[in-house]
Amino acid sequence: MDRLKDHHVLVTGGSRGIGAAIVRKALAEGASVSIIDMDAKGGEALLDEVGRARCHFSEGSVTSARDIDAAVSAAGERFGPVTGLVNNAGRNTYADIVAMTEEEWDAVFAVDLKAAWLVARAVLPGMIAARRGAIVNIASVHSEMTYKGMFPYAAAKSGLVGMTRSMALDLGQHQIRVNALSPGYTETFLVQEFFDKHDPALREQVIAAHPMGRMGKPAEIANVAAFLLSDEASFITGANWFADGGLTARFAG
Ligand SMILES: NC(=O)c1ccc[n+]([C@@H]2O[C@H](COP(=O)([O-])OP(=O)(O)OC[C@H]3O[C@@H](n4cnc5c(N)ncnc54)[C@H](O)[C@@H]3O)[C@@H](O)[C@H]2O)c1
Repeated sequence: MDRLKDHHVLVTGGSRGIGAAIVRKALAEGASVSIIDMDAKGGEALLDEVGRARCHFSEGSVTSARDIDAAVSAAGERFGPVTGLVNNAGRNTYADIVAMTEEEWDAVFAVDLKAAWLVARAVLPGMIAARRGAIVNIASVHSEMTYKGMFPYAAAKSGLVGMTRSMALDLGQHQIRVNALSPGYTETFLVQEFFDKHDPALREQVIAAHPMGRMGKPAEIANVAAFLLSDEASFITGANWFADGGLTARFAG
């Protein structure tokens, strides 16, 4: 249970869902953990649950370089330089290809793609100086396959996987590993929002399409993130790990 002892893990969007599960898991593995999230209420509730001794919360948006710098600096004062980064903050999008405005496009890519670079940019000087670091970018099964009506989510998540490869190549010389982790359907607010936008019967269809007959739990994604952050994954970089209960292994029929 001490795989992340002496690590400082920064989790973006850590107030709830998959991010909060990664926070809990990293703490259980011995890390100090910092969070940046717009949801201060959720962040405070999580701190009440996990305690404040090894967990720091900063309210802010990952679309703002200023918010990121403030969060990284406040967390660094408590726990030292960030050694592990999980770019988890993300949002769904259900735009129409023709009706979507440029502002809406930019708002999606700001969170689902650009933010991962902005946060990495803020923590990389410390990782490069220490010649140590692991970055996990939470992508999605949409990086490989997608679902109609969710434009342009797949483009942003595929871009995130492409950026993961580029970063892995450029940062390997500094002993920094960069991987993507692609969850399938995982029981969180985002999945509930997805089902709310569709026919309620879709939930049963989705479950039936899973070889394991169920969707995932945030803690099951967090287990993979903790592994990728830890030294047990010391020779894994530039990869895109799927945690989808086998969903992307099948085709119709
Ligand atoms: N739930 C799934 O089935 C699923 C599947 C594949 C990928 N993902 C990805 O996993 C990640 C987490 O998703 P989730 O299901 O836990 O979602 P969620 O909506 O439950 O949690 C997302 C968190 O990110 C925060 N956040 C959103 N925008 C932010 C911003 N601009 N700045 C700071 N914080 C911000 C939210 O406040 C929230 O706490 C996302 O990147 C999502 O795309 C989720």
